[in-house]
Amino acid sequence: MKKIAVLTSGGDAPGMNAAIRAVVRTAAASGCEVLGVRRGFAGLIAGDFRPLSVRSVGGILQQAGTILGSARCKEFHDGEGRLTALRELGRHEAEGLIVIGGNGSQTGAHDLAAMGFPVVGVASTIDNDLYGSEITIGVDTALNIALEAIDRLKATASSHQRAFLVEVMGRGCGYLALTAAIAGGAEAVMLPEAETSPEELAQQLRDAYKRGKTHALVVVAEGARLNAQRLVEHFQEHRERLGFELRATILGHVQRGGTPGAYDRLLASRLGSAAVHRLLAGEHGVLVGVLQGAVHATPLVEVVSHRKQLDLSLLDLAKTLAR
Ligand code: F6P
Repeated sequence: MKKIAVLTSGGDAPGMNAAIRAVVRTAAASGCEVLGVRRGFAGLIAGDFRPLSVRSVGGILQQAGTILGSARCKEFHDGEGRLTALRELGRHEAEGLIVIGGNGSQTGAHDLAAMGFPVVGVASTIDNDLYGSEITIGVDTALNIALEAIDRLKATASSHQRAFLVEVMGRGCGYLALTAAIAGGAEAVMLPEAETSPEELAQQLRDAYKRGKTHALVVVAEGARLNAQRLVEHFQEHRERLGFELRATILGHVQRGGTPGAYDRLLASRLGSAAVHRLLAGEHGVLVGVLQGAVHATPLVEVVSHRKQLDLSLLDLAKTLAR
């Protein structure tokens, strides 16, 4: 291959730029040019491509977000949009494509691969809900941002007999919430995968105070049926019975905008580079991720047909350590 394209799609993740840089420089080492596609699949359809030289990706390793921009693109779901994308790739003489992103992005990557175009995916989402990679680009940085917030909230929570909620991102997956609860020493956690009733939560908080704790902090996953806002409303409505005033902090997109830490820079560099090697070696239709600590390629068809399961033994650990 003499020319390939790269795009970032879906929610941006800290480390995406490091992955773009790795793609460009690894390709250059093999004499292959790289075109950057702006705004994900939307830019692919619009033919919004620009050449990326080894120098043009200098200084982006440490930048949050993605220099290429990202989008969630509805047009790509229909066959017409995908045919236009293939035409644009051909018009720009791109012989292969690297898609950096999470579940929605890898579904798009699989759709193009199924149409016969050489595509390799790179596992990137702060949610860590992508089958085929035990850890994805952006998770570690997002988790550290959540921990910083939790540490601060604990300090103020200790001064009041209140219960504090901190809601972390994760549309349908509680990975960030569960790991933040363990690493942040939370008293309770609310996950989409293991729902707790408000009554059980109130009991957990009362028990924490009875055990002599000076604060009660709950990590709530955005995707939990009872998210932070609903919990606050419910506890307000049933204040007499539940006995707590809740204060909620919703971290939201703050978690996605962090400077990538060492772990994410390294992971993104490894995966971006491996994606180019696989593509140039003729191994496509795969997602490049990490399994048992090593870079691993999983067929995209497998990735899109499986749901990654949250390790619920971690929930027992969170409960044991909250004593
Ligand atoms: O997929 C990553 C993610 O940050 C989820 O945690 C969150 O639910 C979603 O993206 C938010 O998407 P948007 O930025 O499009 O609102």
